[in-house]
Amino acid sequence: MFELVKNKLKNAKKIVIVTGAGISQESGIPTFRGKDGLWRNYDAMKLATIDAFYDDPKLVWEWYAERRTNIFSAIPNAGHIAIAQLEKYCDVVILTQNIDGLHQRAGSNNVLELHGSIVRIKCTVCDFVDDLINEFNNLPPMCKCGNILRPDVVWFGESLPQDVWEKALIHSSSCDVMIIAGTSLVVSPANTLPIFAKENDATLIEVNPEETIMSKDMDLTIRDTSANVMPNLITEIFE
Ligand code: APR
Repeated sequence: MFELVKNKLKNAKKIVIVTGAGISQESGIPTFRGKDGLWRNYDAMKLATIDAFYDDPKLVWEWYAERRTNIFSAIPNAGHIAIAQLEKYCDVVILTQNIDGLHQRAGSNNVLELHGSIVRIKCTVCDFVDDLINEFNNLPPMCKCGNILRPDVVWFGESLPQDVWEKALIHSSSCDVMIIAGTSLVVSPANTLPIFAKENDATLIEVNPEETIMSKDMDLTIRDTSANVMPNLITEIFE
Protein backbone atom coordinates (compact mmCIF):
# COMPACT_ATOMS: atom_id res chain seq x y z
CA MET A 1 0.00 0.00 0.00
CA PHE A 2 2.72 2.42 0.94
CA GLU A 3 4.44 1.95 -2.46
CA LEU A 4 1.14 2.71 -4.21
CA VAL A 5 0.58 5.84 -2.12
CA LYS A 6 4.23 6.84 -2.57
CA ASN A 7 3.79 6.77 -6.35
CA LYS A 8 0.53 8.70 -6.13
CA LEU A 9 2.35 11.39 -4.14
CA LYS A 10 5.40 11.37 -6.44
CA ASN A 11 3.27 11.74 -9.57
CA ALA A 12 0.71 14.10 -8.08
CA LYS A 13 0.07 17.27 -10.07
CA LYS A 14 -1.96 18.80 -7.22
CA ILE A 15 -1.81 18.04 -3.50
CA VAL A 16 -4.31 19.55 -1.08
CA ILE A 17 -3.35 19.55 2.58
CA VAL A 18 -6.10 19.94 5.17
CA THR A 19 -4.61 20.90 8.53
CA GLY A 20 -5.85 21.44 12.06
CA ALA A 21 -4.58 22.39 15.50
CA GLY A 22 -2.45 19.24 15.75
CA ILE A 23 0.01 20.53 13.16
CA SER A 24 0.78 23.52 15.42
CA GLN A 25 0.96 21.42 18.59
CA GLU A 26 4.71 20.87 18.12
CA SER A 27 5.09 24.65 17.95
CA GLY A 28 3.71 24.81 21.48
CA ILE A 29 0.18 25.88 20.55
CA PRO A 30 -2.41 23.76 22.41
CA THR A 31 -5.01 21.80 20.44
CA PHE A 32 -8.70 22.23 21.18
CA ARG A 33 -9.69 18.71 22.12
CA GLY A 34 -6.44 17.49 23.54
CA LYS A 35 -5.66 17.43 27.27
CA ASP A 36 -4.29 21.01 27.01
CA GLY A 37 -7.49 22.38 25.47
CA LEU A 38 -8.39 24.54 28.44
CA TRP A 39 -7.74 28.22 29.09
CA ARG A 40 -8.09 29.67 32.63
CA ASN A 41 -10.31 26.60 33.19
CA TYR A 42 -12.60 27.75 30.41
CA ASP A 43 -13.48 25.20 27.73
CA ALA A 44 -12.08 26.70 24.50
CA MET A 45 -15.14 25.44 22.69
CA LYS A 46 -17.37 27.54 24.95
CA LEU A 47 -15.35 30.71 24.37
CA ALA A 48 -15.18 30.39 20.58
CA THR A 49 -18.87 31.22 20.18
CA ILE A 50 -20.85 34.33 19.26
CA ASP A 51 -22.88 33.91 22.48
CA ALA A 52 -19.74 33.89 24.66
CA PHE A 53 -18.59 37.01 22.82
CA TYR A 54 -21.77 38.98 23.44
CA ASP A 55 -22.02 37.64 27.01
CA ASP A 56 -18.54 38.90 27.83
CA PRO A 57 -16.69 40.52 24.89
CA LYS A 58 -13.86 41.62 27.17
CA LEU A 59 -13.17 38.04 28.32
CA VAL A 60 -13.17 36.72 24.74
CA TRP A 61 -10.87 39.56 23.64
CA GLU A 62 -8.55 38.68 26.55
CA TRP A 63 -8.56 35.02 25.44
CA TYR A 64 -7.61 35.96 21.87
CA ALA A 65 -4.97 38.44 23.09
CA GLU A 66 -3.36 35.71 25.19
CA ARG A 67 -3.53 33.24 22.27
CA ARG A 68 -1.88 35.88 20.02
CA THR A 69 0.96 36.27 22.53
CA ASN A 70 1.46 32.50 22.51
CA ILE A 71 1.23 32.31 18.72
CA PHE A 72 3.65 35.20 18.11
CA SER A 73 6.23 33.48 20.34
CA ALA A 74 5.70 30.17 18.52
CA ILE A 75 7.80 29.24 15.50
CA PRO A 76 6.74 27.09 12.56
CA ASN A 77 7.79 23.48 13.21
CA ALA A 78 9.31 20.88 10.89
CA GLY A 79 5.83 19.89 9.75
CA HIS A 80 4.95 23.41 8.59
CA ILE A 81 8.36 23.79 6.93
CA ALA A 82 8.14 20.46 5.09
CA ILE A 83 4.69 21.39 3.78
CA ALA A 84 6.07 24.70 2.52
CA GLN A 85 8.91 22.80 0.75
CA LEU A 86 6.35 20.61 -1.03
CA GLU A 87 5.57 23.62 -3.23
CA LYS A 88 8.90 22.98 -4.99
CA TYR A 89 7.61 19.68 -6.33
CA CYS A 90 3.98 20.28 -7.31
CA ASP A 91 0.90 22.48 -6.99
CA VAL A 92 0.09 22.57 -3.26
CA VAL A 93 -2.98 24.16 -1.67
CA ILE A 94 -3.31 24.30 2.10
CA LEU A 95 -6.80 24.38 3.59
CA THR A 96 -6.19 25.14 7.24
CA GLN A 97 -8.62 25.32 10.14
CA ASN A 98 -5.89 27.08 12.10
CA ILE A 99 -5.94 30.83 12.67
CA ASP A 100 -2.28 31.06 13.76
CA GLY A 101 -0.68 31.99 10.42
CA LEU A 102 2.18 29.49 10.94
CA HIS A 103 1.85 27.98 7.45
CA GLN A 104 2.43 31.42 5.94
CA ARG A 105 5.33 32.10 8.33
CA ALA A 106 6.87 28.76 7.23
CA GLY A 107 6.84 30.01 3.64
CA SER A 108 3.66 28.45 2.23
CA ASN A 109 2.14 30.70 -0.41
CA ASN A 110 -1.19 29.06 -1.17
CA VAL A 111 -3.07 29.00 2.14
CA LEU A 112 -6.83 29.26 2.59
CA GLU A 113 -7.80 30.07 6.19
CA LEU A 114 -11.15 28.29 6.59
CA HIS A 115 -11.74 29.64 10.11
CA GLY A 116 -10.24 33.11 9.68
CA SER A 117 -7.16 34.61 11.24
CA ILE A 118 -6.23 35.63 14.78
CA VAL A 119 -4.35 38.65 13.42
CA ARG A 120 -7.36 40.09 11.62
CA ILE A 121 -10.25 42.03 13.19
CA LYS A 122 -13.63 43.14 11.86
CA CYS A 123 -16.60 45.17 12.97
CA THR A 124 -19.63 43.32 14.37
CA VAL A 125 -21.88 45.51 12.22
CA CYS A 126 -20.26 47.45 9.39
CA ASP A 127 -17.88 46.00 6.78
CA PHE A 128 -14.70 47.27 8.45
CA VAL A 129 -11.90 44.63 8.36
CA ASP A 130 -8.22 45.16 9.14
CA ASP A 131 -5.04 43.44 10.29
CA LEU A 132 -4.42 43.78 14.01
CA ILE A 133 -1.07 45.56 14.42
CA ASN A 134 -1.05 46.24 18.16
CA GLU A 135 -3.19 45.02 21.01
CA PHE A 136 -5.86 47.43 22.17
CA ASN A 137 -5.56 49.02 25.63
CA ASN A 138 -9.29 49.18 26.22
CA LEU A 139 -11.31 46.03 25.66
CA PRO A 140 -13.55 45.45 23.86
CA PRO A 141 -12.34 47.89 21.14
CA MET A 142 -14.90 49.96 19.28
CA CYS A 143 -15.27 50.54 15.55
CA LYS A 144 -15.52 54.10 14.15
CA CYS A 145 -19.18 53.31 13.45
CA GLY A 146 -19.70 52.96 17.21
CA ASN A 147 -20.09 49.16 17.34
CA ILE A 148 -17.82 46.56 18.97
CA LEU A 149 -14.90 45.11 16.99
CA ARG A 150 -14.33 41.33 17.05
CA PRO A 151 -11.64 38.87 15.95
CA ASP A 152 -12.07 37.95 12.26
CA VAL A 153 -12.45 34.26 13.05
CA VAL A 154 -15.27 31.78 12.46
CA TRP A 155 -17.04 30.83 15.70
CA PHE A 156 -19.17 27.77 16.29
CA GLY A 157 -22.51 28.18 14.58
CA GLU A 158 -21.14 30.74 12.11
CA SER A 159 -20.69 30.03 8.43
CA LEU A 160 -17.27 30.03 6.80
CA PRO A 161 -16.36 32.90 4.46
CA GLN A 162 -18.31 31.98 1.29
CA ASP A 163 -15.48 32.73 -1.15
CA VAL A 164 -12.96 30.74 0.90
CA TRP A 165 -15.30 27.75 1.22
CA GLU A 166 -16.09 27.68 -2.49
CA LYS A 167 -12.37 27.68 -3.36
CA ALA A 168 -11.76 24.94 -0.75
CA LEU A 169 -14.41 22.78 -2.42
CA ILE A 170 -12.95 23.35 -5.90
CA HIS A 171 -9.44 22.44 -4.73
CA SER A 172 -10.64 19.40 -2.76
CA SER A 173 -12.56 18.12 -5.77
CA SER A 174 -9.63 18.53 -8.16
CA CYS A 175 -6.59 17.17 -6.32
CA ASP A 176 -4.74 13.90 -6.88
CA VAL A 177 -3.78 13.51 -3.23
CA MET A 178 -5.25 14.98 -0.05
CA ILE A 179 -3.12 14.90 3.10
CA ILE A 180 -5.19 15.40 6.27
CA ALA A 181 -2.81 16.37 9.06
CA GLY A 182 -3.44 17.35 12.68
CA THR A 183 -7.19 17.49 12.71
CA SER A 184 -9.78 15.46 14.60
CA LEU A 185 -12.21 16.02 11.69
CA VAL A 186 -15.07 16.63 14.15
CA VAL A 187 -15.95 20.15 13.01
CA SER A 188 -18.01 20.71 9.88
CA PRO A 189 -17.93 21.71 7.15
CA ALA A 190 -14.12 21.34 7.09
CA ASN A 191 -14.53 17.64 7.88
CA THR A 192 -16.42 17.10 4.59
CA LEU A 193 -13.42 18.10 2.46
CA PRO A 194 -11.92 14.57 2.45
CA ILE A 195 -15.27 13.27 1.18
CA PHE A 196 -15.18 15.66 -1.80
CA ALA A 197 -11.62 14.56 -2.51
CA LYS A 198 -12.48 10.87 -2.31
CA GLU A 199 -15.52 11.35 -4.54
CA ASN A 200 -13.11 12.67 -7.15
CA ASP A 201 -10.72 9.71 -6.85
CA ALA A 202 -8.07 11.44 -4.78
CA THR A 203 -5.79 9.37 -2.56
CA LEU A 204 -6.36 10.23 1.12
CA ILE A 205 -3.45 10.21 3.56
CA GLU A 206 -4.03 10.91 7.27
CA VAL A 207 -1.18 12.11 9.50
CA ASN A 208 -2.26 11.92 13.14
CA PRO A 209 -0.84 10.14 16.21
CA GLU A 210 -4.42 9.23 17.14
CA GLU A 211 -7.27 7.58 15.24
CA THR A 212 -10.02 9.89 13.95
CA ILE A 213 -13.60 9.24 12.92
CA MET A 214 -12.44 9.14 9.29
CA SER A 215 -9.32 6.99 9.68
CA LYS A 216 -11.17 4.05 8.18
CA ASP A 217 -11.85 6.06 5.00
CA MET A 218 -8.20 6.88 4.42
CA ASP A 219 -6.02 5.11 1.83
CA LEU A 220 -3.11 5.42 4.24
CA THR A 221 -2.99 6.49 7.90
CA ILE A 222 0.37 7.39 9.38
CA ARG A 223 0.14 7.20 13.18
CA ASP A 224 2.76 9.76 14.04
CA THR A 225 3.13 13.51 14.50
CA SER A 226 3.25 15.88 11.55
CA ALA A 227 6.68 17.20 12.52
CA ASN A 228 8.01 13.63 12.26
CA VAL A 229 6.07 12.51 9.19
CA MET A 230 6.08 15.46 6.82
CA PRO A 231 9.87 15.88 6.51
CA ASN A 232 10.23 12.10 5.96
CA LEU A 233 7.59 12.20 3.21
CA ILE A 234 9.57 14.90 1.43
CA THR A 235 12.94 13.15 1.65
CA GLU A 236 11.57 9.66 0.91
CA ILE A 237 9.42 10.63 -2.02
CA PHE A 238 10.72 13.78 -3.59
CA GLU A 239 14.42 13.98 -2.82
N1 APR B 1 0.78 16.02 14.81
C1 APR B 1 -0.36 15.66 14.14
N2 APR B 1 -1.57 15.58 14.74
C2 APR B 1 -1.62 15.89 16.06
C3 APR B 1 -0.50 16.27 16.81
C4 APR B 1 0.74 16.33 16.12
N3 APR B 1 1.87 16.67 16.76
N4 APR B 1 -0.89 16.49 18.11
C5 APR B 1 -2.23 16.28 18.15
N5 APR B 1 -2.66 15.90 16.93
C6 APR B 1 -4.01 15.59 16.50
C7 APR B 1 -4.93 15.08 17.59
O1 APR B 1 -4.84 13.66 17.66
C8 APR B 1 -6.29 15.53 17.06
O2 APR B 1 -6.85 14.54 16.21
O3 APR B 1 -4.57 16.82 16.08
C9 APR B 1 -5.98 16.78 16.25
C10 APR B 1 -6.42 18.06 16.92
O4 APR B 1 -7.82 18.04 16.95
P1 APR B 1 -8.63 19.30 17.54
O5 APR B 1 -8.03 19.73 18.83
O6 APR B 1 -10.08 18.92 17.47
O7 APR B 1 -8.33 20.47 16.51
P2 APR B 1 -9.00 20.70 15.09
O8 APR B 1 -9.31 19.42 14.41
O9 APR B 1 -8.13 21.66 14.36
O10 APR B 1 -10.37 21.47 15.47
C11 APR B 1 -11.14 21.96 14.40
O11 APR B 1 -12.53 23.12 15.98
O12 APR B 1 -12.37 24.29 17.92
C12 APR B 1 -12.64 24.43 16.58
O13 APR B 1 -12.29 26.23 15.13
C13 APR B 1 -11.62 25.33 15.95
O14 APR B 1 -10.35 25.04 13.93
C14 APR B 1 -10.78 24.37 15.10
C15 APR B 1 -11.76 23.26 14.79
